[in-house]
Amino acid sequence: MPFEATNHPATTPLNRVWPKGFIWGSATAAAQVEGASHEGGKEDSVWDAFARVPGAIANGETLKDAVQHYHRMPQDVRIMKELGLDSYRFSTSWSRVRPGGRTANAEGLDFYSRLVDELLDAGILPWLTLYHWDLPQALEEKGGWANRDTAYRFVDYANDVYSALGDRVQHWTTFNEPFCSSLLGYAAGVHAPGRQEPDAAVAAIHHQHLAHGLVVNELRSRGAQQLGITLNLSNSIPRDPSDPVDLDAARRFDSLQNRIFLDPILRGAYPEDTLNDLKQFGIRDVIKPGDLEIIGAPIDFLGVNHYHDDLISGHPTAEHGDGHSGGATRPTSSCWIGSEDIAFPSRGLPRTAMNWEVNPDGLRKLLVRLGEEYPTLPPLYITENGAAYDDIVSPDGAVHDAERTQFVLDHITAVGEALDQGADVRGYFVWSLLDNFEWSWGYGKRFGVVRVDYDTFERTVKDSGLAYSRVIEAAKASA
Ligand code: NOJ
Repeated sequence: MPFEATNHPATTPLNRVWPKGFIWGSATAAAQVEGASHEGGKEDSVWDAFARVPGAIANGETLKDAVQHYHRMPQDVRIMKELGLDSYRFSTSWSRVRPGGRTANAEGLDFYSRLVDELLDAGILPWLTLYHWDLPQALEEKGGWANRDTAYRFVDYANDVYSALGDRVQHWTTFNEPFCSSLLGYAAGVHAPGRQEPDAAVAAIHHQHLAHGLVVNELRSRGAQQLGITLNLSNSIPRDPSDPVDLDAARRFDSLQNRIFLDPILRGAYPEDTLNDLKQFGIRDVIKPGDLEIIGAPIDFLGVNHYHDDLISGHPTAEHGDGHSGGATRPTSSCWIGSEDIAFPSRGLPRTAMNWEVNPDGLRKLLVRLGEEYPTLPPLYITENGAAYDDIVSPDGAVHDAERTQFVLDHITAVGEALDQGADVRGYFVWSLLDNFEWSWGYGKRFGVVRVDYDTFERTVKDSGLAYSRVIEAAKASA
């Protein structure tokens, strides 16, 4: 299947009729924006600890202040309201709610309770993620996600958050991008906790799945009605579909990037080819009787994070590079366990500051494919989409981020086309509301539609934020 280039259809996000009730939002994550990393009772997360490892984060940057959202939260909610957002997707920090993985911290829960009240007062729907990668370091020291017990500790934490916020929050996401917190964290070692142990990565995948299912069942029994998970999914496009080597590499990429997460959750079973490929890393040993029934508990929505898709070859050559256009950045070890031959040839498309290829039509294809392949697919929300570019502040203080603006508009157009083709998409969240801590890249990669000055922490809405706001206004008028 040859890749399809970006197209520029006549229907734009501004002149399209959007479904009534379509949710327009923006997203952040606790570790990336809050700061106050050791205030209000919060203790180390794996990312605080990882940031102390020399060379782990670009320029030795830390999460200490991030963008001071913890201290500027009411102002940030005002900005969301000015932009006209329907919803704000944020995460709660396990290390703030249960410091050291121990018992509930009232001060930590109070921060999220105030955030939720502030959002509701502003007419903004809170969209909560329980795990966006900040495991308490104390639990990592007991084995982290490679230890099955961590899944049960996650239920304790989720119960604390639900007890505090369940009266006001309707939308509960268990995990954000388990691909990253398992394979990048435990196999490639480029994310916290920085381990390079494929067996541990496979165990982490399964234990996160188990934790997801346990929490879905638990919160469902306590009355939650909107429960889901967010996955980062990418099309796997064989470079030469007539070449069996490229085809098999594309199959294995699809297995590790997409199907190992989608299938247990939506079908209650791991794909057979995945089980065979990962046999050498002990995947069959970590799956206990009854686990898959728990993991396959029905969900009410699937969050899709999408930034790029991937052309795949099974013939690694120098010109194919060492990393995925999805940014495995320091390939001392690979996240493609057992499939280190997977290569990512360039398609010559424009790239963002993350070196990710820009191909908005990939988002349309992905959304349509999910509907075709998964009969039990629940409604979809794009829970992240956006781009890092090197912004320039104009003398008048404005940020004319034309490339990010185009990226966002083109991807929203692709969502509209997917809707036309029958995909059940109910919302779109731009990543990110604010420039923030981009994990091992530190603060240099700016994804915000609102700029943060890292000296003064002043916020300035970029042109992309203004353009997004106009889309929301037009969409509301059209519905
Ligand atoms: C996905 C992650 O959920 C988010 O934390 C990250 O900043 C963006 N991708 C951009 O890389």
